[in-house]
Amino acid sequence: MIIVPTTPSTKLAASIGKRLGAKVSPKTVRRFPDGEMYIRIEEDLKGQDVCVVGNTRTDENILEMMLTMDAAREASPRRLIAVVPYFGYSRQHRIYKPGEPVSSRVLTRAISDNADKIYAVDVHDEETLSFSPKPFENIMILKSVGKHFSGHGIDYVVSPDDGGADRASAIGEILGVQSFHLEKVRLDDRTVRMEVPDINLKGKKILLVDDIISTGGTIMRSAAIMKEKGASKVYMSAVHGIFTNHSDEKINEIADEIAVTDTIESEFSTISVADEVSERLRRDE
Ligand code: R5P
Repeated sequence: MIIVPTTPSTKLAASIGKRLGAKVSPKTVRRFPDGEMYIRIEEDLKGQDVCVVGNTRTDENILEMMLTMDAAREASPRRLIAVVPYFGYSRQHRIYKPGEPVSSRVLTRAISDNADKIYAVDVHDEETLSFSPKPFENIMILKSVGKHFSGHGIDYVVSPDDGGADRASAIGEILGVQSFHLEKVRLDDRTVRMEVPDINLKGKKILLVDDIISTGGTIMRSAAIMKEKGASKVYMSAVHGIFTNHSDEKINEIADEIAVTDTIESEFSTISVADEVSERLRRDE
């Protein structure tokens, strides 16, 4: 297999390549004088199994991913796999108000145009998978998160909402502890109350787990509630650390630790998804 990285996934692509014993193709990415993007894959991909690793986090990342997929397809590989570590726009997987697009469908269709198979890492909502005419699988990152926190003496794994309850329960199982989720109760248009099950959290060590930390609002509110209930330590983890507007700085002030994965690289990417992704790719070889 030959791995073709895109700029935001360079390090992760190298880690996946190392685990698979696969060559990572050099690639040129630059701008034409008018600002348009130019890319070139240096390796000959003809007849090879090829895996392009690329995020759809920013519009620039999306463009590079699309151009790379097109270049890879043009090179006549035997099979072309797309691995999307962070599937941006997946929170718009449905129309909430008339006049909106289904953004995750737009991206899924564009990627599936050239891909024989797509993998996303912990996509926000699995409805996105249904938009692809080609096989599209979601790789959940549970083992690596569990492993990272195995020596922390965690008492409970907590999800900030019911959508993440399965993730919290699976990580809880790995750590051999119980899990629960907070319940969002909408009081009116502007006010949401977060309810905690009746559990004594005094002196307990809590691991909050979510799929995404963006503004940090969700995880910080959840952490505040845990502290109010007497938790002695609150560790915070998510698969994708977007950290909009430097929210990592505010979160870091109240968290006993923040640990996110390398689907989006940051100083808090202390967990790698490379094991889970390469294990899944190996089964396809
Ligand atoms: C919500 O459904 C997601 O699972 C995350 O909780 C949310 O996207 C986090 O966003 P923020 O950090 O802006 O609160």
